Amino acid sequence: MNTSLALAGIIIGGIAAILVLKFIMRCVEAKHAERARRQEALAPASGTYDSAAAAAGAPPHHHRVRVEMESVNRFLDDILREKPARFTPENLREFTGDYAERVGAGGFGVVYRGSFPNGVQVAVKILHSTLDRRAEEQFMAEVGTAARTYHINLVRLYGFCFDATTKALVYEYLENGSLDRILFDQEHHRGRRDGAGVEFDTLHGIVVGTARGVRYLHEECQHRIIHYDIKPGNVLLAADYAPKVADFGLAKLCNRDNTHLTMTGARGTPGYAAPELWLPLPVTHKCDVYSFGMLVFEILGRRRNLVSQHPAESQEWYPKWVWQRFDQGRFYEVMAASGIRRKDGEKAERMCMVALWCIQYQPEARPSMSSVVRMLEGEEQIARPVNPFTKQIDFG
Ligand SMILES: Nc1ncnc2c1ncn2[C@@H]1O[C@H](COP(=O)(O)OP(=O)(O)OP(=O)(O)O)[C@@H](O)[C@H]1O
Ligand SMILES: [Mg+2]
Repeated sequence: MNTSLALAGIIIGGIAAILVLKFIMRCVEAKHAERARRQEALAPASGTYDSAAAAAGAPPHHHRVRVEMESVNRFLDDILREKPARFTPENLREFTGDYAERVGAGGFGVVYRGSFPNGVQVAVKILHSTLDRRAEEQFMAEVGTAARTYHINLVRLYGFCFDATTKALVYEYLENGSLDRILFDQEHHRGRRDGAGVEFDTLHGIVVGTARGVRYLHEECQHRIIHYDIKPGNVLLAADYAPKVADFGLAKLCNRDNTHLTMTGARGTPGYAAPELWLPLPVTHKCDVYSFGMLVFEILGRRRNLVSQHPAESQEWYPKWVWQRFDQGRFYEVMAASGIRRKDGEKAERMCMVALWCIQYQPEARPSMSSVVRMLEGEEQIARPVNPFTKQIDFG
């Protein structure tokens, strides 16, 4: 009796195991096919670079049916080796048409517009040579992490170049450039009735999307990534003004150019960097929350937070001016100053309260980014902010 029961058990178990194995094989095959499709879409039509897409490319269709086990191995291999494409300096020259179009420059290097041979537009950032001292493996490990970090609100990193003469990063190209251009660029504002020319709703969407991008870095990806340099210049805008956070992972990757104008002594950019970044205090991911708060003020005001020759002296340091209006129940003055209509008042006030919480002096008093997202979306009640300026160095 016992023997036959055991036998039946073995047979049923065996069948179940075979079925499960078959199912796994199917999933693996489907995943592999999807990856092949993705890589096909991304890979340039021709080119000489040593890309992971090419190295780990999908097998031709007639082979795929033949070896299921091989595709399992290949799939596992892919996971282990998945890495961004590696380009040569010649590739970069080709992509950028010999660096014909410079789109900007920052603390890490100069950015050029270019395109892959298949027409996909790219931004090539040539890094300053302070990287020379870095080991190649460390560079690749950190670039690899950034390249594997996918989110709709993060700029995609396609690949890199690491060569004796050239260190560079190749990103997806964002058509509408950076947020600072639409907020502060006078050219962009000229002739527009409502200041920056974009609707308040679009700006609100940019705030929420940016918050989601940072939330992903802090709370949702495999290893927490602290950005250290959240600011309007590092929020890029797609054709439909969908925001994407740029330059995450860069702070760890290289030392910024210390001669760059916007540098603080350590990390980040003055006006956005949390106090703990320039004081001998422990630094956590909450420094990004602080910078995000400063960014929200600039969106609310459609102006830089610090304008030293502002016509109204009290408005020179905008966040403090906003706090005073808010505290005195005169938020309507904040709205009037940046042309926010009454219908947008509720969202604007929510943005203001979130920003006031984010820039609290004590990192623990600042909310997490998931809480920020919920508050902005009206899903979480916002307590009345307390004065963030009791301890802080006063810019105004
Ligand atoms: N992927 C991209 N697509 C389109 N434009 C870009 C892209 N990356 C950068 N740019 C443009 O190049 C400019 C310079 O970028 P860069 O990141 O070098 O400097 P930054 O963001 O001003 O400062 P930081 O060095 O602190 O990041 C940006 O302001 C933006 O206008
Ligand atoms: Mg940048």
